[in-house]
Amino acid sequence: MIKLGVIGTGKFGTNILNTFKQLEREGRCKLVAICDINPEVLEKQTKTYNVPGYLDYKEMLEKEEMDGVAIATPDPFHKEPVIYAANLKKHIFVEKPMDITVEGCEEMINECKKNGVFLQVDFHKRFDPFHQQIKKDIEKGKIGKVEYGYAHMEDKIVVPRDWFPNWASKSSPVWFLGVHFFDLIRWIIGSNGKKVYATGRKLKLKSLGIDTYDAVTAMVEFENGATVTFDVSWILPENFEAIVNQGFRLVGEEGMIECDSQDRGTRVCYKEDGVMTYNPVFISESNDNYGNVKYSGYGIESIADFVYNLEYIKKTGKTEINNGITATGIDGLEVTKIAVSVNKSLESGKVEEI
Ligand SMILES: NC(=O)c1ccc[n+]([C@@H]2O[C@H](COP(=O)([O-])OP(=O)(O)OC[C@H]3O[C@@H](n4cnc5c(N)ncnc54)[C@H](O)[C@@H]3O)[C@@H](O)[C@H]2O)c1
Repeated sequence: MIKLGVIGTGKFGTNILNTFKQLEREGRCKLVAICDINPEVLEKQTKTYNVPGYLDYKEMLEKEEMDGVAIATPDPFHKEPVIYAANLKKHIFVEKPMDITVEGCEEMINECKKNGVFLQVDFHKRFDPFHQQIKKDIEKGKIGKVEYGYAHMEDKIVVPRDWFPNWASKSSPVWFLGVHFFDLIRWIIGSNGKKVYATGRKLKLKSLGIDTYDAVTAMVEFENGATVTFDVSWILPENFEAIVNQGFRLVGEEGMIECDSQDRGTRVCYKEDGVMTYNPVFISESNDNYGNVKYSGYGIESIADFVYNLEYIKKTGKTEINNGITATGIDGLEVTKIAVSVNKSLESGKVEEI
């Protein structure tokens, strides 16, 4: 039985907790302990999930017996618990971005390698079945060599302003959103970033006292010659039809692919809410036969994949995962390299090597 812990049990940590608990009911793992530095959050989550709670992750990792740990602390606070856990030989699932520095990612990879532990990064867009089909088609050569493309990911302003008032200024649309699509595109086209030119603006959020970019446009040239432009922002108005707007297009020698990763074809209009579109393939809820809420979707599959990988590791003794989907520390590093160079270009106003 795979024993697991969770560090950081806020908004996204809750999705991790739900996934682990669901797999626990299926007999595939056991959630043994959780940790959050916020006592109120910790109290609520320990009650909800009926599991021991710790305010200090070091204490939890030392006292509790576990095979792996999931880390969902805010972006700049992933590295320390990852390194601490690696040294205690725990396999690790870390939220995106893996770290906000290239050196930090390299250190995390080295510590995991040195300790023989597996490091997985939560880039869930890889688990979207529409994206998987596109990757397969591109690998089959359906559009020939990819020449150029475009991707966008845009959150409503409630995300930085109301969800993360304490740490939005330490993050940006590049770190919070861009990394998802940097990873998705490099995974789909099978190539790493080479150079980038980026521009951005600080207007709306700065006027609200949150000193970070509203929006960033980054033109990335990949090693295989494809150029993809990424628009990322988190200032869409509150009455936009969904919490996030997202999608991409890729054009090659022999064809073109367009994917609306938000609007999956269902559009509603309710008196209280106005017009809305749904993306039920991300995370959706149904009921199982025993009256439990059952979660499914690519947001859940990406987390469950960690448990399946730990089962494989336990069975085979191998810590190399090569299923073609799982994002490892190397993927986390390559994505951080792109994001760091985007930020360098924002500062310098010049093209930067990745
Ligand atoms: N995969 C996704 O789609 C997705 C979506 C949203 C957020 N995220 C990522 O998940 C991470 C967490 O985001 P969130 O939205 O849950 O934020 P959040 O603020 O809701 O939760 C973070 C939690 O971590 C706790 N925390 C902070 N430092 C800690 C420490 N040292 N030890 C233990 N707990 C600590 C906080 O008290 C808080 O409860 C971020 O890296 C974010 O980018 C991923």
